[in-house]
Amino acid sequence: MNLSRAPRLAGYLARATADATPVDPAAVAQLAALDHLFGHAPSIAAAIVAELRDQRATLKLIASENFSSLAVQLAQANWLTDKYAEGFPGHRFYAGCDNVDAIEAEAVKLACDLFGAEHAYVQPHSGADANLVAFLAILAARVEAPLARELGQTDVAKWSRDDWDRLRRAFGGQRLLALDYYAGGHLTHGYRHNLSSRLFDVHTYGVDPATGLIDLEAVREQAMRVRPLILLAGYSAYPRRIDFARMRAIADEVGAVLMVDMAHFAGLVAGKVFTGTDDPVAHADLVTTTTHKTLRGPRGGLVLCRKAFAEHVDRGCPMILGGPLPHVMAAKAVALREASAPSFRDYARRVVENAQALAAACQGEGLHVVTGGTDNHLLLVDVGRLGLTGRQAEAALRTCGITLNRNALPGDPQGPWYTSGLRLGTPALTTRGLGVAEMAAIARVVTRVLRATRPDGDSRAKYLLAPEAAAGARAAVAEMTGAFPLYPELGDVAAESSNS
Ligand SMILES: Cc1ncc(COP(=O)(O)O)c(C=O)c1O
Repeated sequence: MNLSRAPRLAGYLARATADATPVDPAAVAQLAALDHLFGHAPSIAAAIVAELRDQRATLKLIASENFSSLAVQLAQANWLTDKYAEGFPGHRFYAGCDNVDAIEAEAVKLACDLFGAEHAYVQPHSGADANLVAFLAILAARVEAPLARELGQTDVAKWSRDDWDRLRRAFGGQRLLALDYYAGGHLTHGYRHNLSSRLFDVHTYGVDPATGLIDLEAVREQAMRVRPLILLAGYSAYPRRIDFARMRAIADEVGAVLMVDMAHFAGLVAGKVFTGTDDPVAHADLVTTTTHKTLRGPRGGLVLCRKAFAEHVDRGCPMILGGPLPHVMAAKAVALREASAPSFRDYARRVVENAQALAAACQGEGLHVVTGGTDNHLLLVDVGRLGLTGRQAEAALRTCGITLNRNALPGDPQGPWYTSGLRLGTPALTTRGLGVAEMAAIARVVTRVLRATRPDGDSRAKYLLAPEAAAGARAAVAEMTGAFPLYPELGDVAAESSNS
């Protein structure tokens, strides 16, 4: 087959196979897919290639992102996307689900084995969905099931209007106690602009203003006062470990269900960096996660739970979800298998080692690191002390090839849009192969750029960046990205796209 003569091809594959070097089958598949796409939707193919070019040329420090393997990516790109499979393995509302059954059952088993969970539900399309599934499963187990027993009827579709109203009223008053959004919690944990705050009577705990740490004794006292149905632990922007054994004790003392959202640090649990009291699965009733952050899988979510909640969690469809995404469940299975390999433990260990090296180097450069360091994969830097908003700092760094995100700090005077902080994470760069020496270099570049940036007048968004500092930073980033190529097996795809 002479691919280079095919008129509708961009030639990605032909160019890659033209030289004598043996070509990686995954790379061939990706390049052939790009060629095919180019014939159908050139602008989309070009945007995909442009994204690769961008990710290759920049240093990604976004704490919630990673680089999945080509195997994870390829598992999603096929005809499984065409299949409806509402229900769960062996119990579907559609015919022809045998292969999806096999895929989902394998993903469930891999998740249970990897995390030591009694039950897993791998259908949630995202972390937000996984949290909704968990919330509704808890309400079903703790509020709906007792009423159903009292009424002698488990099928809610058969309840009278009055009984249904009773349930709705009972649902409405349930209390959720979770980490405040402004102290590093996630918006699905009761943020006013999210559905969770409408579903529950939300109470939040914060961090100690002096230390930046969660004070578990204060959480205990609050839990005693609030008596929540759900005590929720987990975060998007908190750089320290949480003692889940103590969280369990608090939940038991007040009769709450303990739920942990480990979306950010699931990879550290899978990689056995977080064990003992740091392992949420060993202590919580339900654990939710995304699969695409430190876990390094496809975009998606999953729920792990004790057997007591399994039947309610498995009703994620029809409670919250429609049909599952079989192609994504296949990719989750691939990622869970990868995370079960010994090399993933080494990866997880290096993620934390790099984060700690980055935090120490940032402090060494004179930056203020919230809580004085990190125990996990992320750190928070206070740029307010440099006279900048997070928005200005984020934008200035991005023009120099460093991609990260601004983040509100506890009690942030600039609010959640402009913010006073930056969140830096190491999962992606660790996948790319960077180590502690590079973390020190990155801290130097970041500090140099921040010190060379100042607000433009009164604006909280516009900034001025000294050109020589920007040029120096870009050169340093180019050196590092060149030394640690991203998806090297794909070859020079970006250059080919611009030539074609
Ligand atoms: C702790 C936590 N939970 C849930 C989510 C939501 O995940 P998704 O964006 O996949 O809905 C996030 C995303 O950042 C998160 O940090």
